[in-house]
Amino acid sequence: QVAAACRLYMQRNGDTVAGRKVELILKDDTGLAPETTKRIAQEMVVQDKVAFLAGFGLTPLAFAAAPVATEAKVPMIVMAAGTQVIPQRSPFIVRSAFTLPQTTSPIADWAFKNNIKRVFPMVTDFAPGLDAEKTFQSRFTAAGGTVVESVRTPLRNPDYAPFLQRAKDAKPDALFVFVPSGEGLAVMKQFDERGLRAAGIRMIGPGDVVDDDLLETMGAPAVGVITSFHYSAAHESPENRAYVDAMMKANNGMRPNFHSVGGYDGMHVIYEALKKTGGTGTGEQLVNAMKGMKWTSPRGPVMIDPEARDMVQTIYLREVKMVNGKPWSIEFDKVENVGPGG
Ligand code: PHB
Repeated sequence: QVAAACRLYMQRNGDTVAGRKVELILKDDTGLAPETTKRIAQEMVVQDKVAFLAGFGLTPLAFAAAPVATEAKVPMIVMAAGTQVIPQRSPFIVRSAFTLPQTTSPIADWAFKNNIKRVFPMVTDFAPGLDAEKTFQSRFTAAGGTVVESVRTPLRNPDYAPFLQRAKDAKPDALFVFVPSGEGLAVMKQFDERGLRAAGIRMIGPGDVVDDDLLETMGAPAVGVITSFHYSAAHESPENRAYVDAMMKANNGMRPNFHSVGGYDGMHVIYEALKKTGGTGTGEQLVNAMKGMKWTSPRGPVMIDPEARDMVQTIYLREVKMVNGKPWSIEFDKVENVGPGG
């Protein structure tokens, strides 16, 4: 999704900016292997002499590359990973994605206002999951809600069934879920099969669990899930309609997801910083040129917070609904200008 979006950006905006030819060098991080990511980042800096490092789908991988960016003074664009502290790991990091506190706060507020008073949180046991858990716990209880019990599922080879059974036995109004996006399918299936849905327990969370990349495959069991998130492929705007059409056309009908829009906006930040510095900026000058940048993304209006080097953006409340036989996260409300802290 990230690579496809970077390619689309270059196709639409050309491969020359401020007199510089842009070349995309794509390397496979092979998944959760921080040492591999660090080695690839070092090779890119030393051998390929890259002007930017970009990507980073998992927090531990962004953490692993951060010291490489600092030492080489190369801007590092985090296009996907969502733990709030990431940009603090290097002054050369700028994030075009989101943070978990940012995407979680609105659903905590929404839940309490909408008659969900007792919630059972289930999060994956690694940094973004702990961010989501902490944010939900503090916002929801501050509003007056009760967290009945809280569980953390393992990052590697998770089996959600026993955790969902515990959740069912606790009889909450809703299950709050954060799992890294590829895991949504397994959670949705078990939620249905274990009878939580039939027991009238709602599912809420940040939008990772209903990732647009997998939502069609999830099908009917996802209907009714309510999440808050920065991007839905169903977002109604001329920019997004054109974006979704172009992504689908270029990638065999693949529905673009939140990772893609992080990649697309990351390329925008790179292109605009190159323009601002006349194509000859140092790493520091390029990062400075990114601070405070404002534009209209397919996701809506966004800005790079100059201090946090992180996105300020609209977070949408969405409900999964069937439209023409396919599930989509349909936006029904929004909170504007949400910062990285939520
Ligand atoms: C991460 O930061 O590692 C992360 C965040 C959200 C996801 C997946 C991974 O959906």
